[in-house]
Amino acid sequence: MDHCLAQDNLESLQSHILAEEQKFPGATGEFTWIISAISLATKAIGNKVRCARIQDVIGEIGNVNVQGEMQQKLDIISNEIIMHCLGNRDNVGVLASEENKTPILLRRRAEGGRYAVLFDPLDGSSNLDVSVGVGTIFSVLRLSDDGSREEAILQEGANQVAAGYVLYGSSTVLVLTTGNGVDMFVLDQAIGSFVLVARNLKIPEGNKTYSINEAYTTRFSDGIRGYLDWAHQNGYSSRYIGSMVADVHRTLLKGGAFLYPPTTDKPDGKLRLMYEANPMGMIIEQAGGAAVAKGNRILDIVPDGLHQRTSVILGSKDQVDAILKHTT
Ligand code: AHG
Ligand code: MN
Ligand code: MN
Repeated sequence: MDHCLAQDNLESLQSHILAEEQKFPGATGEFTWIISAISLATKAIGNKVRCARIQDVIGEIGNVNVQGEMQQKLDIISNEIIMHCLGNRDNVGVLASEENKTPILLRRRAEGGRYAVLFDPLDGSSNLDVSVGVGTIFSVLRLSDDGSREEAILQEGANQVAAGYVLYGSSTVLVLTTGNGVDMFVLDQAIGSFVLVARNLKIPEGNKTYSINEAYTTRFSDGIRGYLDWAHQNGYSSRYIGSMVADVHRTLLKGGAFLYPPTTDKPDGKLRLMYEANPMGMIIEQAGGAAVAKGNRILDIVPDGLHQRTSVILGSKDQVDAILKHTT
């Protein structure tokens, strides 16, 4: 099986990150070390996802996680894979996961633990058994000087040094920002590498598409309902997959808006700030879009808990503005 790309434009995730790091004098390459661990982990998770039904690791494990949600077998397996791959990177001080109540404190800063990696190991996992796109979302924070305590990671999203996701869809796509634009890589199975396919992605404007779970319409605010009525009368189309990674990836590439607003039963929304909304918010902003919660910039929210939830409205600026016109 020959690899998918012509030889002349073969740039791997590794070489791309190293090239990016060269732009920063004094960069130590330790960043590449973290991204390479994420690359390894997500290749392994992607493999598990694609063989899940064959290896009978589909379905619920019977536990409820810290989120109060039924855990899928692959939530646990994915979590263990990431913990293993990142745990032995000696510049990682803290790991924090959607699947763990408290962060894992690995190394104090004095022992080299300079970064925290927060992640949703498997996003959209309820879609696994019907082979719909699922993903992994990650966020990287620098740890302050006074050690790797839990509160050291409770930083607003604007402090993220990197954010990204891997979508296990019809292809395995890694989207990454280190604060200088958004780059996209696709896993070339023949050579086992994420290869660069797009640099400095910009979210298109003018796409009249919204992505929301309309089954909750009676539980939305008057403002959101007003926006939906307006959209229905102004030629909008609707796309909703139910995996945030898949819905956000489509929004990033095609434009439009993704909304998970507050509902009467979830007044703070459902999505988690630290490892869903913040990383996705950084990516969308770096691509020229906007990401807000109750009219405020998501990346400015000062967190008070690792698993705190937030509402999310993100997408191209024109489409987010069209929503805000009805909701603020
Ligand atoms: P997770 O599988 O990590 O718990 O995330 C599921 C989230 C997110 O992926 C998606 O946008 C949202 O749940 C869908 O929620 P609804 O089923 O309420 O629409
Ligand atoms: Mn999720
Ligand atoms: Mn998850």
